[in-house]
Amino acid sequence: MDRIRIRGGNTLNGTIHISGAKNAALPLMIAALLTEDTLTLHRVPRLADVRLLQRILGNHGVDITVAGKRSGQNGRDGETLRISAKVIADTTAPYELVSKMRASFWVLAPLLARCGEAKVSLPGGCAIGTRPVDLHILAMEKLGAEIAIDAGYVVARAPKGLKGGHIAFPKVSVGATHAALMGAVTAKGDTVIENAAREPEIGDVAQCLVKMGAVIEGIGSSTLKIKGVPRLHGAEHAVIADRIEAGTYAMAAAMTGGVVKLAGARIDTLDEVMTVMRSSGVDVEAANDGLKVKRNGSGLAPIKVETEPYPGFPTDLQAQLMALTTRARGTSIIRETIFENRFMHVQELARLGADIQLHGDTAEIRGVDRLTGAQVMATDLRASVSLVIAALVAEGETTLHRVYHLDRGFETLEDKLKACGADIERLSSH
Ligand code: EPZ
Repeated sequence: MDRIRIRGGNTLNGTIHISGAKNAALPLMIAALLTEDTLTLHRVPRLADVRLLQRILGNHGVDITVAGKRSGQNGRDGETLRISAKVIADTTAPYELVSKMRASFWVLAPLLARCGEAKVSLPGGCAIGTRPVDLHILAMEKLGAEIAIDAGYVVARAPKGLKGGHIAFPKVSVGATHAALMGAVTAKGDTVIENAAREPEIGDVAQCLVKMGAVIEGIGSSTLKIKGVPRLHGAEHAVIADRIEAGTYAMAAAMTGGVVKLAGARIDTLDEVMTVMRSSGVDVEAANDGLKVKRNGSGLAPIKVETEPYPGFPTDLQAQLMALTTRARGTSIIRETIFENRFMHVQELARLGADIQLHGDTAEIRGVDRLTGAQVMATDLRASVSLVIAALVAEGETTLHRVYHLDRGFETLEDKLKACGADIERLSSH
């Protein structure tokens, strides 16, 4: 298994190009199941999760071609995928594939909408929590589907097709909102979704569905109104820039000091992140076509933050923010309200010398003067990158094991950091 070795102490200076968002690319690829025409997606990030979803969609009979490099196009523009679900050959999503990546459970709604049936393995839990899917099932039932759970599979049927309904989510859920939207766009009649998640990636998928012929009102708000249409047609869409990747590199630059430009970052999706970073003394400003992050020598002030659904502070940046606070001048408080076990990075940060106390869903981080390099282990995608951020300032050498977690969500991370002066390299084990 690959490892990444970092020698701390270098400041970061330069430009990092932000890739297309993993959490938009995955549902956009799944939305292609809703039409027999071809959906063309640009700026798709080169990630392990995208490759895995290509395999999963192939299992349903979907043809996906990756467009070759165009003259003048450079690697940082991601890939163009042409996805065509002309015929859906299989409406079962098997355990061995779904258990590898939870988002593949999201094929449930489009398979039901398109074929009137779907048999999708329950995704099972993961490192950060039990990850139930009851809200997905609630949405499908409100759209007229009959759902049974059988031997670890969700078996869904809608022999007469899905029909519009009123879905009032008791709790905000990104995935369940994607499911409700994809189930409603070709349902018979109108649908109202209340307490919908407002993450920008949902807006990006909704905009793409509209290009495919869907009729959706209230995009970006917590109440979505959908008028069902008989069918969707093909479209072309560029994946929105990844706000979590942008926030991650902003925190890396804040940690080491230096001046880094995040080219292509959508600052309108980073309001709360910029507010929190500014409160810690980091200079964050809008630059043309992106974000500029600067920390001139002065130390970081402690912060008090809790994660919330968008537009609050994102849970996917909680681990990265925690890494940043390990060197703040004072004690910071971070409360994780979305997932029940998203503190796996705490023990590993402690191995680098961080002083963190856990009290239930709240972490208390006492800033220390120095971190020291060590062998550490990645446990989940965002936790692994928080260890990279800490290692960038830890004295000596840090080796990060199980970097496949990183490869799931960060495109060419070590190249992007090395280009800004980090002493980082991947050690491939044969
Ligand atoms: C999406 O996961 C993201 N994944 C996650 O990013 C992100 O952390 C999460 O949203 C929250 O923003 C993708 O977009 C592919 P939820 P999702 O449904 O949809 C509970 C990453 O690192 N819940 O919004 O699974 C759930 O247990 C990943 O890129 C139910 O109770 O998250 C959690 O406590 C990690 N019942 C809360 O809601 C349900 O049916 C929010 O989960 C569904 C969820």
